[in-house]
This record gives sequence, structure tokens and C-alpha cells, in this order.
Amino acid sequence: MTDTDNFTKIAEVGDIPVGEGEGFDIGGIEIAVFNTGDEYYAISNRCSHQHAPLCNAGDEKINAEDTWTGERGGVDTEACTVSCPWHLWEWDLETGEHEASGQRIGTFDCRVEEDDILVRI
Ligand code: FES
Repeated sequence: MTDTDNFTKIAEVGDIPVGEGEGFDIGGIEIAVFNTGDEYYAISNRCSHQHAPLCNAGDEKINAEDTWTGERGGVDTEACTVSCPWHLWEWDLETGEHEASGQRIGTFDCRVEEDDILVRI
């Protein structure tokens, strides 16, 4: 990772498919970066409810008995939100807000420079 103007390169365009996210650790700060197709958004990777990793939103979940599978949560590219994979709290990717609870998690500036996706911590 390189650091220019306090922005850290975390990935390259094409690494994170549209409608998906990926988790990163930047100096001990866990962030998730989501691609809505129009923009990349960087947000805390920990849901404030019970600390689920938001980067796993939309992944297939298999319960302990292997009796239930399916996708849990995910990115809504139209609404610009991500639903937590554990209990489906919906987080605004721009503001970090969960409207129903009034809670807010961290968001970070994210930009694309040439083919690099950069995040400012
Ligand atoms: S841990 Fe995210 S909604 Fe419960």
C-alpha cells in the first residue's frame, strides 16, 4: 500500500465487483469498501449492532447445522446502502447512518485516481 496526501491505495479498479464490497485493514482500522457502480464508498467494516463484518454482506451464509444457506444482506446500488449480513441493519454508505436506530458508523473519503482506489483514514 502507498500513501499519497493521506490517501492510501487499497485496491485497483476491477478488484471489487459492482454491488460487492471488500474488507481492508489500514493501520489497524478496519474498513469496508463497496462498489455501487457509480462510486466507491469506504465505511467502517464493523456494524455497530454486534460488530459483524459488513464486507461479508451478500455472501452466502451456512448455519451451524448446514441446513440453511443463502445470501444475507448485501449492497443496494440504487439506495446506496449496505445491509448487515447478521441482522440486516441497513447502513447508508454516504453518511454511515442506520436510520431506524439513529446510530452512525465511520465513513472515509474514497476516490479513484487512474486505476487506483484510494481511501483517506
Ligand atoms: S451485527 Fe449488524 S445488524 Fe446485527
